[in-house]
Amino acid sequence: MKENAKRQLLIKSIRCKQVKPCSINSTKKKRSERLDTLQQAADLSEEERALLEREGTLSLDTAEHMVENLIGTYSIPVGLGLNMRINDKDYAVPMATEEPSVIAAQSAANKLIRAAGGFQAEASPRMMIGQIALSGVQNGKEASGAILGAKTELITLANEAHPSLKKRGGGAADITVREVKTPQENLLVVHLAVNTLDAMGANMINTMAEAVAARLEQLSGGTAEMKILSNLVDQATATARCEIPAALLAGKGYSGEEVRDRIVWAYHFAENDIYRAATHNKGIMNGIDAVILAFGNDTRAVEAACHAYAARNGKYGPMNRWTVSKTGSLVGEMTLPMPVAAVGGSIKIVPLAKLAQKIVRLESAEELAMLTVSAGLAQNLAALRALVTEGIQAGHMSLQAKSTAISAGAVGEEIEQVAREMTATKSISLATAAEIIERLHKTE
Ligand code: MEV
Repeated sequence: MKENAKRQLLIKSIRCKQVKPCSINSTKKKRSERLDTLQQAADLSEEERALLEREGTLSLDTAEHMVENLIGTYSIPVGLGLNMRINDKDYAVPMATEEPSVIAAQSAANKLIRAAGGFQAEASPRMMIGQIALSGVQNGKEASGAILGAKTELITLANEAHPSLKKRGGGAADITVREVKTPQENLLVVHLAVNTLDAMGANMINTMAEAVAARLEQLSGGTAEMKILSNLVDQATATARCEIPAALLAGKGYSGEEVRDRIVWAYHFAENDIYRAATHNKGIMNGIDAVILAFGNDTRAVEAACHAYAARNGKYGPMNRWTVSKTGSLVGEMTLPMPVAAVGGSIKIVPLAKLAQKIVRLESAEELAMLTVSAGLAQNLAALRALVTEGIQAGHMSLQAKSTAISAGAVGEEIEQVAREMTATKSISLATAAEIIERLHKTE
């Protein structure tokens, strides 16, 4: 079967199964049916399938080598965000999240964007940054000139600290110098730009930054106080864009033009109010973090990068932008720094991370970056569309009811029943769930 035909199969068949009503027994069956489809579409081996069927995939032995003072492992659900199309390639994207509705919202927004032709995405060449902060520099201008004059020597020095990266086509590539005012002095901050290829490269960059520090001290007459990567990787960005004809947005009693204009209004609200911007961006990160986590990447690195980038002009604002095109379509755009990796770190250790790559047939870190930014943009569309029409709670209710039922102790078939009753009476709380569970137990 051709690659794209397999992806289509995955998208179509998993989607069909998701909309069928279910009891808890059939939920189990449904998941196994989903796995049947996934196994076929993504060419999963029996071992890989077995991994998905297991409760908890990270062994304690492996975990022991990952962190200190280990006491256990922590599982969260992984689901597939369906219907995603980026640059004419179809994806069912693994997403790891504990939050109900995120994956459903992802699939719904992807579907809408797909009907409009999908995302157009691109990734910039990936340059990570190592920072070396020099203090006690007497003449910043002279020191800066000396450092830039020794650029080739410094780059060679950095590459000698990690020769394999250069051999593989990456490595240190540039040096720039900035002055940073602090209350005590003007620091001279040297940026070492490093192409880390498909790795996130934190260790490589830190090693390289330390390797050039002594020479920078000689050149500047200062002291290299700190040598560490910067998470604001503004030379390793990815951009996603979508253009949705207004007619596709109609629904919930609103015309397409109304929904379009209300989404742009909501974007302007976030642009001008930091309280709203934080929530707007949290919704974007719902998609981004879920993809990042499923692919075994560092959620904190990406969070730090995205929020810093959202404030790069001195004012924190929304990470994306919604506008109206000349033809009246809604246009969504988002560029974010993406310090992601397709190799290294916990990817080779966490079994589901490798599997996530196989499911989307990931080819590079750039592809993961584009996938992640697109997921974030779709999440924002889903959230804003709901917020400016029926409100967010309507869609959240049934999933929220289920997790409340589970929190109150419902098990098996009870979960559906408790959730159904709470949704019908619009009373979703632990107390109500506990009352229903008690009644069910009495009538057993
Ligand atoms: C909830 O996790 C995310 C939202 O609050 C995002 C938003 O308000 O845009 C729904």
